[in-house]
Amino acid sequence: MTRDITDFIRTIPDFPQKGVMFRDVTTLFGNPEGMKLAVAQIVDAFKDTEITAVAGLEARGFIIGGAVAERLGTGFVPLRKKGKLPGKTLSEDYTLEYGTATIEVHDDALKAGDKVLLIDDLIATGGTAAAGIKLVERLGATVVHAAFIIDLPDLGGAQVVRDLGVPVTALCAYD
Ligand code: PRP
Ligand code: HPA
Repeated sequence: MTRDITDFIRTIPDFPQKGVMFRDVTTLFGNPEGMKLAVAQIVDAFKDTEITAVAGLEARGFIIGGAVAERLGTGFVPLRKKGKLPGKTLSEDYTLEYGTATIEVHDDALKAGDKVLLIDDLIATGGTAAAGIKLVERLGATVVHAAFIIDLPDLGGAQVVRDLGVPVTALCAYD
């Protein structure tokens, strides 16, 4: 029997604050069948699309994005939290559901003409993904699609990304 992605995702109430239902992908990543299913579904969706690089958002986007990049035969570009990358970087500030943050990319990580698949585990308000798209575009590359394991549509992030002209795919959604 084929299992659904949501079978592997755990919900933890009241994390990181009261009233939030936190969708926890560690149980998906930690399960061989769950990990295989998530990677396969994203790879299947993009195997016929021209993609020259996968860019993943720290931290959980690294886990799924690295595996997808290997399967698509591309390199992987980490979009990291501020202060982690050793070379020359570009930065974007953004607002999170639970605060503010900055992400960075090495200024030589992508080049004009690159066609990038942006990956993260989850899209909530879309602030993180929008900052990632801006970084990629500031390097002259194009985000051809953004892919997530989970969409939280009530928080509107997928629409924010679509409004930037980037199509969105999510493997599942929670109200
Ligand atoms: C979470 C999640 C996404 C982001 C989504 O990461 O993994 O990256 O929030 O939220 P948004 O759509 O409202 O921007 P978080 O910032 O908690 O960082 P982590 O992966 O390092 O825990
Ligand atoms: N789960 C994981 N990460 C998140 C969530 C969530 O429910 N909301 C915002 N970031």
